[in-house]
Amino acid sequence: TFIHSKTLGLLEYLHKTAVAVNSLGTVVAISPDTDLTTAQTVLLPQLGWSPDTTDITTAKPNQFFFPGFIDTHLHASQYPNAGLFGNSTLLDWLNTYTFPLEASLSELSKAKKVYSRVIAKTLSHGTTTAAYYATIDVAATNLLADLCLASGQRALIGRVCMDQLGPSYYLDESPGESITKTKQCIEHVLQQDPKMELITPVITPRFAPACSAPLMTQLGQLAKETNLPIQTHISENKNEIALVGRLFPDAGGSYAEVYDTFGLLTPKTILAHAVHLTDKEADLVRERGSKVSHCPCSNSAIASGAARVRWLLDKGIEVGLGTDVSGGYSVSVLEAARQAVLVSRHVCMDEGRSGEEREKLSVEELVGLCEVDSDEEGEEEGNVDVFGWESWEERVAKWVYNGDDRNTKKVWVRGRLVHERR
Ligand code: GUN
Ligand code: FE
Repeated sequence: TFIHSKTLGLLEYLHKTAVAVNSLGTVVAISPDTDLTTAQTVLLPQLGWSPDTTDITTAKPNQFFFPGFIDTHLHASQYPNAGLFGNSTLLDWLNTYTFPLEASLSELSKAKKVYSRVIAKTLSHGTTTAAYYATIDVAATNLLADLCLASGQRALIGRVCMDQLGPSYYLDESPGESITKTKQCIEHVLQQDPKMELITPVITPRFAPACSAPLMTQLGQLAKETNLPIQTHISENKNEIALVGRLFPDAGGSYAEVYDTFGLLTPKTILAHAVHLTDKEADLVRERGSKVSHCPCSNSAIASGAARVRWLLDKGIEVGLGTDVSGGYSVSVLEAARQAVLVSRHVCMDEGRSGEEREKLSVEELVGLCEVDSDEEGEEEGNVDVFGWESWEERVAKWVYNGDDRNTKKVWVRGRLVHERR
């Protein structure tokens, strides 16, 4: 059984189906009504593939294949802090928990330990693609790229740019240094993976308060010259938004306009959070074609607020899910999915908001927000009791609400088996 999101909110169930994937990870045949024998005697000869060199994976009756998860926003460097945030909110959380840890990863042996673990852990939860923030350190960021490549995880690798606001021990000394170091990381990724088949550099202004106007100007130019993706944070926390207003009084007056002024809102921009966007800002984001990473675990944990996902979708903005480790406490995209369901209930319960029932996100929609990648195999065993009488729709719902890495038996990226649960 193969389950995937056909359009947002609509899952397709393909039972008794064989899917043929070539060594680049491209699906080359979808063959309905195919059992193992038919696959071996009919499908393989049709494809001209030899049984000796073709791996065949079959699933048990309760198991299914599912597209890999895309984590559209997480900080690989903050993984050791997952679950550690106390009662902090964004700006004091950064100073107390985040900057000291990120700075410490300039020690490469520590970076190696942390990055190896976060890659293994996210893969075990079925994350086949991750949009990573690393740190300001070039060597450690390049190490993250190398480790993703070696483990076979598809990733965006972001060297963090910040030339203000941070503590003196963790800052780029000038916009020029920030750009030079960013270019070094871009070059490294392109050397290792020239066609960006698995890893891609991503231009990463940490967030507007940590970037001077000259730095953002140059990062916008770099994005234009290279056509590379951009990732940043937007409108996460009310104090942060007020700070942006004070720091950039001339750049349009809103958070989104600040980024737009510097050419940072492109169709390849991932904007994490977007909790408190105004109507006008959302219209601008939509006009520029930028995308939003919804990070419900993080927004609840550090009390940032409840993002209105239905409203963003209605605006025509594309939304994906992010774990935002370690603002978020869990590396699991499935956990982000169920927290997104719950946050949408809270948005619905909030009387000040219109839309009511429509605000609620469905299991089918949630699955659509996090999938569509290479192949992951999920299984309804592990942590989920399946009694056998459930419909497939019910099995998916039980998995979304109760599943974890124990349900993820095998994970492939580009046709390569990158994780197997034993
Ligand atoms: N804004 C600026 N930096 C960060 C970060 O590391 N995490 C989150 N959640 N928001 C940020
Ligand atoms: Fe973040």
